Amino acid sequence: MSAWLSYLAFSVIFVLTGTALFFFTVTRGALLLRGAGVAGSDHAAHVYPIYSNMRLIRMIDFQPIISAILLFQYDRLVSSITQGLRHTNLDGKDVLITSCAFGNVIPRVVTAAVESGARKVLVADIIKNELDHAQGKLGDFAGQMEFLEDNATSMKLADASVDANVIFFLLHELPHHLKAKALSEACRVLAPGGKLYLAEFHRPDLWVLRALSWTYFKVFEPLGLALWDSHDPLKQLQALGGFSCERRTVFFGNFQIIVATKNAAGHR
Ligand SMILES: C[S@@+](CC[C@H](N)C(=O)[O-])C[C@H]1O[C@@H](n2cnc3c(N)ncnc32)[C@H](O)[C@@H]1O
Repeated sequence: MSAWLSYLAFSVIFVLTGTALFFFTVTRGALLLRGAGVAGSDHAAHVYPIYSNMRLIRMIDFQPIISAILLFQYDRLVSSITQGLRHTNLDGKDVLITSCAFGNVIPRVVTAAVESGARKVLVADIIKNELDHAQGKLGDFAGQMEFLEDNATSMKLADASVDANVIFFLLHELPHHLKAKALSEACRVLAPGGKLYLAEFHRPDLWVLRALSWTYFKVFEPLGLALWDSHDPLKQLQALGGFSCERRTVFFGNFQIIVATKNAAGHR
C-alpha cells in the first residue's frame, strides 16, 4: 500500500513539475532567451511562443486547461463581460476585441455583441496565427467578423470608431511602458458613450493567495505584478480622464473586471 502511495505521489509531482517546466519554457523561458539575444526582437518580442506558434496554440487551447489557469473563474469573468454587452443597445454599432485569448471568450463575446445588435465585430491581434485560430471558432458569424493584424499599443483604427472594446488578460503580458499606451489606444478608438471591458489579475485580499500569486508572477509572468500597484489599470484609466470607471473584483480579489464608460463629452 505504501509503495503505491509513494508511486502515486511521485507521479503527481512528476506531472506537476513537467507541466510547470513546459509552461515556463513556452512563456518566460522563451522571453529570457530573446532578451539574451538568442532570438530576434521586434514589436511582438514580448509575445510568448504559446501565442505565436500554431502547434502550441492548438495544443494548449482546451477549455479545462484555460479555466484551470484562471483558477476556474474563467466562466465568471467572461459572463461579467457578456452580461454588460447584452445590457447595451449595440444596434448597427461596431465592437472590438483587442487581442485574442484562449478558450471560449471570443465566441461568447461575439455572440453577445451580435445578439445586442452589433453590425460588426472586429478582432485585433499582433499575431496572425492567433487571428487564424480565432477565426476557426467563429464560422457562424463569418459575415459579421473582421480580423485585423494590429498592435494594441498603436492601433490603425480611427478615433471613436467602436462602441465597445473588450480586452481580456492582455495588460499583464505587456512591458510596463506599453500598458498605459494600450489603455490609451483602447480609449481613443472608443466612441463617446462606449464601454471598455477589461479583465485582468488583481492583488488578492487573502495573504495566502497573495503569496501564491506573487510566486506565480515572479516565476512565470513578472510583468503582471505591476498591475497590483504601480500600473493599476483603474488608476491609469482615471489618469487618462474622460471616463466613468467601475471595478469589480472576484475570487478573493484575485481578478478584476473594469468597465470604463467614455463620457459623452469626449476623451477629456
Ligand atoms: C490576451 S493575451 C493572454 C490571454 C490569456 N492568458 C488567455 O489566453 O487566456 C494573449 C494575446 O495577446 C496578443 N498580444 C500580445 N501583445 C499584443 C499587442 N501589443 N497587440 C495586440 N495583441 C497582442 C497575443 O498575440 C495573444 O494572442
